[in-house]
Amino acid sequence: MWHPENPIRHDITETRWPTLEEAAASLLFQPVRVGPLELQSRTWVPAMVPWRATADGFVTRENLNWYARFAAGRPGAIVVEATGVRDIPSGPLLRIGHDRFIPGLRELVEVVRRESAGETRLFIQIIDFLSVKRRPDRAKFFERFLKLASRHRRALAEATGDESWLDREETDARMFLKDAPDELIEAVLDERELESLRFGYRERVTDMHLEHIRELPRVLPGIFAEAAARAREAGFDGVELHYAHAYTMASFLSAKNDRADGYGGPRENRVRLPLEVYAAVRERVGDDYVAGVRFLADEAIEGGHRIDDAVYFGKEFARAGFDYLSISKGGKFEDAKQPKVGQAVYPYTGRSGYECMPTVMSDARGPFGRNIPLVAAIKHAVKDEGFQTPVVAAGGINNFEQAEAILRRGEADIIGTARQSLADPDWFLKAKLGRGAEVRRCTYTNYCEGLDQSHKQVTCKLWDRTALDEPGVALSSDGRRRLLAPQWEEEGEGVKGKG
Ligand SMILES: Cc1cc2nc3c(=O)[nH]c(=O)nc-3n(C[C@H](O)[C@H](O)[C@H](O)COP(=O)(O)O)c2cc1C
Ligand code: SF4
Repeated sequence: MWHPENPIRHDITETRWPTLEEAAASLLFQPVRVGPLELQSRTWVPAMVPWRATADGFVTRENLNWYARFAAGRPGAIVVEATGVRDIPSGPLLRIGHDRFIPGLRELVEVVRRESAGETRLFIQIIDFLSVKRRPDRAKFFERFLKLASRHRRALAEATGDESWLDREETDARMFLKDAPDELIEAVLDERELESLRFGYRERVTDMHLEHIRELPRVLPGIFAEAAARAREAGFDGVELHYAHAYTMASFLSAKNDRADGYGGPRENRVRLPLEVYAAVRERVGDDYVAGVRFLADEAIEGGHRIDDAVYFGKEFARAGFDYLSISKGGKFEDAKQPKVGQAVYPYTGRSGYECMPTVMSDARGPFGRNIPLVAAIKHAVKDEGFQTPVVAAGGINNFEQAEAILRRGEADIIGTARQSLADPDWFLKAKLGRGAEVRRCTYTNYCEGLDQSHKQVTCKLWDRTALDEPGVALSSDGRRRLLAPQWEEEGEGVKGKG
């Protein structure tokens, strides 16, 4: 796990929890308008992939139980994990690229309605991503994957001083490169080929030599619009367009996007496709349906966009009519760690990944509310343009005092807590009932994120080994961890009894 040089270990902040009366008078537990609907409180569970879908992208019983468990804590809204908009294989990630996915998703909506007694609004995050291949075995790369061209032969001849490489048998050249030292490989392969060798092949939105990449602006609006229509049909209260982290739409917004077809270069061009996708979604789902967006306040990579672009995007998104802006940070491929042979590069392993899900091994600023100044900059700029569009903050927010202060200062309108909600899905309810002392507090050491990285069912270390012999407890595939947080019992009463 990446952390800054000479990290400082931060303690989980001491906090005072509200009494029942204080909670009732708080902003956090006041309703807030999001487009055409109202959330009962300003509490929000941002998207978290739990690795529980079937291999072909359908909702499982484990998905239903996962969302039911969050719903029992009665947050104002839950955003369902990143769900693929295309009808293509993508491993055990939820998909919404065909009507056959609708029945499972509808069940998910029903479970959340039931478990939250109708209090929690349910949105679904919809995502497009490009191809990422596993890191190849070196021998296979040179024997099979590398497309050997005359430029390689020329470079090889130059690097070795041996002209015979210009017309030697291709197999000879491949066998030679396979065992050649790194300096020679670096002289022969170009930057992308070196990346494919060391990290695995990864497509980019700037690969204009590929027809399907050139065509993205033509095809994506329709694909997102159809996915959004399915979300509506399944009964979700809204869709969240995933324009954050390492994926296709964030790559259009990225400062590294230099497409020359009017969809790259200056930020006015980079925001063009994201706005066209939004327009297609809006057209398809109508004005009376929530369409929100998640995007980055800062890409947190070299050459990436900073807050000034994000402020501009926020204003454009609000002007276009998005119903909420959810702000994240980092989470990019560009600075990810080299994966092991046979594994795919993972976008949360470098500094930008750290900025996305900061841990207690941090710099002087620490992980708590780390993104708030950036969120506030976007919120203020959007407000100054005359838009009321609510802004969702996330990143190391974990207690009532901190959340309430952010709202009171007007830095955000809604408080997203991902890991704290995983650590204790009842934390909102406990705080609201004046029982905050019972909150199981996230320790921000990212055990959960480690599981996510290795595509294992995500659980929390604070509860996944407790009461494993409880009757009916569901266990992970390796049988060693429970899949859901234990029920919160109050004097023997299940939490569902509380109105
Ligand atoms: C296991 C895990 C899975 C995540 N999956 C997603 C996702 O599907 N989409 C997304 O936008 N963010 C995802 N995130 C990022 C969170 O939504 C959130 O932005 C981040 O964890 C910082 O908030 P926190 O400090 O409250 O955890 C994930 C985070 C975790 C820990
Ligand atoms: S495993 Fe649990 S305690 Fe650790 S960071 Fe994740 S949610 Fe927090």
